[in-house]
Parts: sequence; structure tokens; C-alpha cells
Amino acid sequence: MTAAFQRLWQEIATIGRDPRGGYLRYALSEPELVLRDWFRNQAARRDLAVTEDGNGNLFAWWGRPWGPDAVLTGSHFDSVPHGGGYDGPLGIVSAFLAVDALRERGVTPGRPIGIAAFVEEEGGRFGVPCLGSRLLTGAITPEKAAGLCDRDGVTFGEALGARPAGALPGLARRVSAVVELHIEQGKALVDLGAPVGVASAIWPHGRWRMDFTGTGDHAGTTRMADRHDPMLTFAHTVLAANEEARAAGAHATVARVEVEPNATNAIPSLVRGWLDARAADTPTLDRLVEAVLKRATEQAGRDGTGVVVEPESLSPEVAFDTALAARLAGILGGAPILPTSAGHDAGVLSAHVPTAMLFVRNPTGVSHSPAEHAPDEDCAAGAESLATVLEALT
Ligand code: GLV
Ligand code: MN
Ligand code: MN
Ligand code: MN
Repeated sequence: MTAAFQRLWQEIATIGRDPRGGYLRYALSEPELVLRDWFRNQAARRDLAVTEDGNGNLFAWWGRPWGPDAVLTGSHFDSVPHGGGYDGPLGIVSAFLAVDALRERGVTPGRPIGIAAFVEEEGGRFGVPCLGSRLLTGAITPEKAAGLCDRDGVTFGEALGARPAGALPGLARRVSAVVELHIEQGKALVDLGAPVGVASAIWPHGRWRMDFTGTGDHAGTTRMADRHDPMLTFAHTVLAANEEARAAGAHATVARVEVEPNATNAIPSLVRGWLDARAADTPTLDRLVEAVLKRATEQAGRDGTGVVVEPESLSPEVAFDTALAARLAGILGGAPILPTSAGHDAGVLSAHVPTAMLFVRNPTGVSHSPAEHAPDEDCAAGAESLATVLEALT
């Protein structure tokens, strides 16, 4: 399997390289469209029928499209800017390899297997993560999704070339199980000495857009006492988020920021920053975000600035199907079961269909970075495991 993995992985290795390192594969951008063509070619090579759901999600079917009782696998092609190559594509490549392995094993599945390539999983382009699976399950309306804008003012509807179709009726009847394979975004499997694990849960998490407003003015001539500088309120809020998250055993990150007018010698009039907050349970997440926003507002009062906060997306706590996770761990010879604080389409689907995830060992635990990596042998073990699981579920 390792040689087969290397061959297939090489086919996509150069698509969407970010000149700064790693990959830039925004949803429905040129490199992602090339990957979608690659997906169609892979499906054709294997005689798998390809369907699209009108939301930007692609599916390759071994058996009748959309069931009944299909088993869905796959993942996503899109990346964060300057991201790794594994987060997403590993699940799709592994799914094609798993189909090959099942055919080599002489298996004829008793129910359809669908390989999904979900659109805009990272929310890197249009701001809402898992946009494709949210649309498919009805967790976001087509109207709201269509209007989401990228940094150049292009809407999701425009990029898609149509109004999204929205929820697929009868999803729970058409699909009996979902299994997404993903690189682990942490080091639990390294510590446990296991190449493959099974997911138990996803931390609840969300994104909040924070607009700090002040008075734009001359950096040289405005007395320090006369300033209403939103950058200071913003900086205070970043530190507050860090403190509050550490105290709560949670995670808070501010990693995207826009400044107006963004000039060295002008006090800003606007600082827009995005808070990414995650916690092990919903009450802790709610308390964390509330505390950060309270401190931001108090600081704005002291600085004579303003702050307005807009929630952009919320991904509720996910507890994957416990029986399914235990069953898959057993099938895989006692694979460890572990939680994660990263979001996935599988998490969105889990509200509708029994869902599981397989994680592949990541030696450094690094993800959303060019340094993200999994050894070929572990990727091969992951694809073998996925084949074994699909055989058992179909
Ligand atoms: C997506 O990968 C996320 O968890 O942010
Ligand atoms: Mn991912
Ligand atoms: Mn990701
Ligand atoms: Mn993700």
C-alpha cells in the first residue's frame, strides 16, 4: 500500500503550492478546481459515477448514488493559506486507495460507497468553515451561504456560479454511516505509539469578528493623551483572550487582522480582528467568549474607542457515535479513541448520520502549516484501515 499511496500522493503534490511554502488551495479557486478535475479523473479511472449536490460538494460513487444506506467517506481539498498538504486531501486520496484495496480483496460492498470532496471546509475563503457540509445538512441556508464574501468581494454564490441547492432531503435514509479519515492535528497518536486512531469528540468552537473603531489621526502630531487608538484596545483584547483561555483550559487565537488605513504614520480608524475560540464543553466556551468580550468593552471605554462583535460561525460540541467508534476501534485491533479540537465536515454530518473519524499519526502534531506531515507508511496504514472499516460497514 505504501507504494500505491506514494504514487497517488505525487499526482497532487505540486497543485496549489503557496510561494511562501506549503499550499494555498482556497475553495473554488484555480488549484482547487484542478484538484476537482483530478477527482473526476480518479473516479473515471475506477468506473465510479460522479455526482454534484448543487452546493459545491462532489461525490464519486461505487454503487448507486445516494443510497439507500450508503456509506460516505472522503474529506476536503481546500486549505488555509500557507497550509499543509495533508489536512483534507489525505482523506480523499485514502478513500480512492481504500476502494482499490477492497477490489483487490475481492470485496463487493452490499451498499453504496460514496467518496466526498466537500467544499470550503476551512472557511479560508468565505469565512464559514464546513460550508459544504452545512449546506448539505441544512445547517446554513442557501441564501446566507450565497451571500458570503471573500476578501476580493466575490460571493460564494458567484464562485459557485449558482444559488446553492441547500439541504438534501432524506439524508439520514440515504446515508447509513460516515467515516472521514484525517491527519491528526496533535500528538496523541505519537504518545500512544499508534499509527491510526478513532475520534471520540470535537470541542465546540466558533469565530467572532471584532471591529474596533477609533479616530484616525496623524501619528506625529497627535498628543498621546488626545488619542482614541483602536489598535490599543485590540492589543489589550488579544492579551485578554490569551489569559482567559489559559485560565479556562481552553483555546483562543487571534490570527487574522485588518487595519484601516494601514499606514505607518496614521493612527488607525479601524482594527478588525477575528477571535477563534474553542473549549472542551459549551458552558466553558460561552464563559470564555463572554469574558473576552467584556474585557474588550471595558478597555474600549478606557481608550475612548468602540467595539462591535459579530459571531461568524459556531460549531457545536460533537460527540461521535460511541458504539460506532468502539466498533471501529475493535475492528482495527484496539486502535485508540481520542478527542480533537479541530473542526471537520464529519462533525457537521454527525448531527444527522452515525459518524466516525479515523486519525493518522502526525509526528510533530503540527497542522495548518507547511510543516504538517505524516509518514508514507502511516498514510498507507490509514488507507488500509479505512478499507477495513468500509468493508465492515458495507
Ligand atoms: C478547521 O480545520 C478548523 O478546525 O479550524
Ligand atoms: Mn481538515
Ligand atoms: Mn483544517
Ligand atoms: Mn477542519
